[in-house]
Amino acid sequence: MTASQDRGQFGSKIGFILSAAGSAVGLGNIWKFPGKAYFNGGGAFLVIYILLVALIGTTVMLAEFVIGRHTHKNAIAAVREINAKWSWVGGLGVLTGFIILCYYCQVGGWTIHYIIGYITESKTIYADPMNYFLTMLGANGFPLRGAIIFPLVFLFLTAFIISRGVAEGIEKMSKVLMPLLFVLLIGLMIRSCTLPGANEGLYYMTKMDFSVIGTNAILTALGQAFFSLSLGMGVMITYASYLSSDENLVSNTGIVCCLDTLVALFAGFMIIPAVFATGIDPGMGGGFAFATLAGVFSSIPGGTIFGLLFYFLLFFAAVTSSTSILEGLVAFLTEEKGWERKKTLVGVSVILYVIGIFYTLSQAFMNIKGIWVSRAGVEFPIFGDFLEYLTDRLLLPLGSFGVVLFVGWIWGTDKAVQEATSNGKYKFALAPVWSFLVKIVAPIAIGAILVAGMFMGMAIS
Ligand code: PHE
Repeated sequence: MTASQDRGQFGSKIGFILSAAGSAVGLGNIWKFPGKAYFNGGGAFLVIYILLVALIGTTVMLAEFVIGRHTHKNAIAAVREINAKWSWVGGLGVLTGFIILCYYCQVGGWTIHYIIGYITESKTIYADPMNYFLTMLGANGFPLRGAIIFPLVFLFLTAFIISRGVAEGIEKMSKVLMPLLFVLLIGLMIRSCTLPGANEGLYYMTKMDFSVIGTNAILTALGQAFFSLSLGMGVMITYASYLSSDENLVSNTGIVCCLDTLVALFAGFMIIPAVFATGIDPGMGGGFAFATLAGVFSSIPGGTIFGLLFYFLLFFAAVTSSTSILEGLVAFLTEEKGWERKKTLVGVSVILYVIGIFYTLSQAFMNIKGIWVSRAGVEFPIFGDFLEYLTDRLLLPLGSFGVVLFVGWIWGTDKAVQEATSNGKYKFALAPVWSFLVKIVAPIAIGAILVAGMFMGMAIS
């Protein structure tokens, strides 16, 4: 029996695509992306983002797929099998995943808060959407529901799914719910774009004013691309390790990147026109997917039902991502460190939950006091921004940098291309281009961005 048969495989091609897309499509697309586009120049930012996904995102994703499928092992073991000195590339992802999950579970909890909100108190939400959002964050008292209860529920559900094994449940549910999310996004996008006053938002999202694009916007776009495509953390290495040797990795890369980017763009065109039409500027606390959309839901017949459905699907998109991160963490600690699975799951969850609480609290502070919080005369960066800075600006790019250097220079692109084409079974006309991107363009671009990110500090949005 081969190693790959031992470890089980994805049941079908579509199962793999949906699971990889399930990991990629998450809060990053719907909650993070529209805000980044809004604060970084609208249409011009979209162009930069798409270019970076096409050039760097696809390059790194194929590199991760190739490593995983070649070795049929988890991220660290996979890299170690090819060259032991480079296993840090896989190991780094564990740290990154932990930090991401700290705030991911908080925002995941907010989606549950909104599901319940649309069931029980939609009138309160519609009456003052921004205030409702800020109250959840803790601007008007302690955020018992927003920081403590619902994030715990979200984390518990994530851990529960992991403890039951991801494959069956998630793979099956993804097949039904991901297409539904897609359809709903398109429907809501159309409604948002046809709201009276939405034109200005549409104009903003299609305006090609590149004078607003500076280093910061480019750094933001690349960090967002890595986050959104689940790159630089070994998740895609691990997923591809479950894939059989005769799947076409190149076309899978294209499909996953396109799906993820489409969802982000739909979310942008669903939310930004609504910002302009309703005048609900969600500030910097990440209220785009929460406060702003109330204006859309209150303006359509049956809007509350749509609201409910939307947050349910957003929750689902978040869970298919959070499970992929937690699974990576737990798999590493149990397989590499020999820790017991249940205890590890509980221990890791408790720590990241406690750290996460401060994330929500810091988002509330940000809205009340601006980006920096002053304490005893000292300016502290907002904790939430700091976490995002660490992951999007430093750790994910560093992980991706390691992946391309590893494939380009240590393992070698010839062997990688052989794996990518299943030993010549599939055509890969762009193989020389990809090899060039992996060896030269991506390391230089990501390296430059890493250095710039370190020097630019934390000015993110
Ligand atoms: N891609 C996910 C999202 O956009 C988040 C994620 C990042 C998942 C890294 C796995 C690894 O929400």
